[in-house]
Amino acid sequence: MASRPPSGKPPDGRPEGLPDVAMLAEMASALYSMGLEQLGDRAAEKAVPTPGPAFPTGVQSVPLGAPTLPAMPSPARLPSTPRAPAEMSPSSPYYFMGEASAWRPPADTQPGAQGLVGRDDPTGLGDSDYPGYYFIHERHRPAAPVEPSGFDVDAVRQDFPILAERVNGHQLVWFDNAATTQKPQAVIDRLVWFYTHENSNIHRAAHELAARATDAFEAARAKVAAFLGAPGPDNIVFVRGATEAINLVAQSWGRANIGAGDEIVISHLEHHANIVPWQQLAAEKGAKLRVVPVDDSGQIILAAYRELVNERTRLVAMAHVSNALGTIVPVREVVEVARAAGACVLIDGAQSVAHERVNVTTLDPDFYVFSGHKVFGPTGIGALYGKAEVLESMPPWQGGGSMIRDVTLDKSTFQAPPARFEAGTGNIADAIGLGAALDYLQRIGLDNVARYEHDLLRYATEHLLRVPGLRLIGTAPAKASVLSFVLSGHTPEQVGKALNREGIAVRAGHHCAHPILRRYGLEATVRSSLAMYNTRGEVDQLVDALRRLATGRPAANLLAR
Ligand SMILES: Cc1ncc(COP(=O)(O)O)c(C=O)c1O
Repeated sequence: MASRPPSGKPPDGRPEGLPDVAMLAEMASALYSMGLEQLGDRAAEKAVPTPGPAFPTGVQSVPLGAPTLPAMPSPARLPSTPRAPAEMSPSSPYYFMGEASAWRPPADTQPGAQGLVGRDDPTGLGDSDYPGYYFIHERHRPAAPVEPSGFDVDAVRQDFPILAERVNGHQLVWFDNAATTQKPQAVIDRLVWFYTHENSNIHRAAHELAARATDAFEAARAKVAAFLGAPGPDNIVFVRGATEAINLVAQSWGRANIGAGDEIVISHLEHHANIVPWQQLAAEKGAKLRVVPVDDSGQIILAAYRELVNERTRLVAMAHVSNALGTIVPVREVVEVARAAGACVLIDGAQSVAHERVNVTTLDPDFYVFSGHKVFGPTGIGALYGKAEVLESMPPWQGGGSMIRDVTLDKSTFQAPPARFEAGTGNIADAIGLGAALDYLQRIGLDNVARYEHDLLRYATEHLLRVPGLRLIGTAPAKASVLSFVLSGHTPEQVGKALNREGIAVRAGHHCAHPILRRYGLEATVRSSLAMYNTRGEVDQLVDALRRLATGRPAANLLAR
């Protein structure tokens, strides 16, 4: 092992805690001496080190100065390490050991075999226009093997490498899904593949990589359209996420259509992203924001909503699922009432699309928005669905490249939607990653996910309610994913920190939804939010940790020490 100066600082300016080259070589040779064969499913029991440097606090690290491999977690609690499918790496079980370029799409994953697109033209442009090059074999990585009858959570978990992560000596329990979801290997691989084989700016070049990148980006748009049940890809504008989508509508549609004395209706449940842009617009235009109240369970009061909507209502903007309480809002009725009054409707689907099937054609809002990172896709990408005639009527909201048809020094003319709303270079790779996430989810089946999560939420609710001093905030009969609560004698932050010590990630705070928490006299709650890869075992761990916290008893493993 390389010697270190007395201060403990590595001699070569490396950050403290990083293993040096000699140490890494020693670790690697220990790893290889076990034989690659051994490392397949048994890697978790054996020797795959958790990430080395003590960089992210709380994550288990290679001990300083210790050339031996870190102790591995108990195999009973760790799923076996996800493996690349054989077809991705013909000569090695390790996809990332120089084999990426050896990958070729398996023969049985032709477009339409499964997944969203269902035809040979992922662009949705029609076969005659589709160039047919390259991206025709786009879906390259199988999702978890799903039994025809349903949902295999253990198999799904294998697809999410981060779920094997160790935090504070425990296997990670990710209950912060309403903030962001974890990513399946299929999405991670898709991003690597893009940057390895396709990276280019899109739409304006004659070269091969521009064609590949454009093809993949537009295929992703078609996947989003199919995922939402939209008529076609032109209904989908790529944005950074739900926040940007709502701001786009406020600044483009809103500025053109809202005037003094007009009314915008939102609910008391909204995330700040669906409050602030409307407040800003109302202030600018002299319009009025009207708020639909909720009952004690956290459901909007439909009768009050019907009363609020009138001939001055220009827009209704409402969450499909509340991020703070988990309430599923009856959006069908919300849309119907708005339609009857001639108002435009925006539905914020940030918290719904990962949990239940959405069809914008049957739901019939004017706009539907969501964020990719909450549906197993990358951050920095999301989608705005808009009805064709509404998008067509809207002015651009940002100017620049890509969105123009022609520019002279006197004036510019603009593209049709969606390009009109996508000025500049977009988030190409992450749009493609989002497409991969939707493929993945589609292969698992949202109906399977919804059924599984419904059962898990009911189980978690029943067990949480037995924790002494726990008060659940948000008890509407129709809920998805979210369990918001306070624990008597402990602040939400204390609860969050205590759970983190046991590797359980929850959110503690206002969840960017101040108004609804204040409706319950609170500034913060603990929010545990479920996704399709969570299990009853994880819920038991949460409940056990909370029970110990509530009763002041230490963990069994601490008692044993
Ligand atoms: C209901 C809801 N709307 C909008 C947003 C904003 O999403 P993003 O931050 O991804 O733009 C969130 C984020 O938590 C949300 O839960």
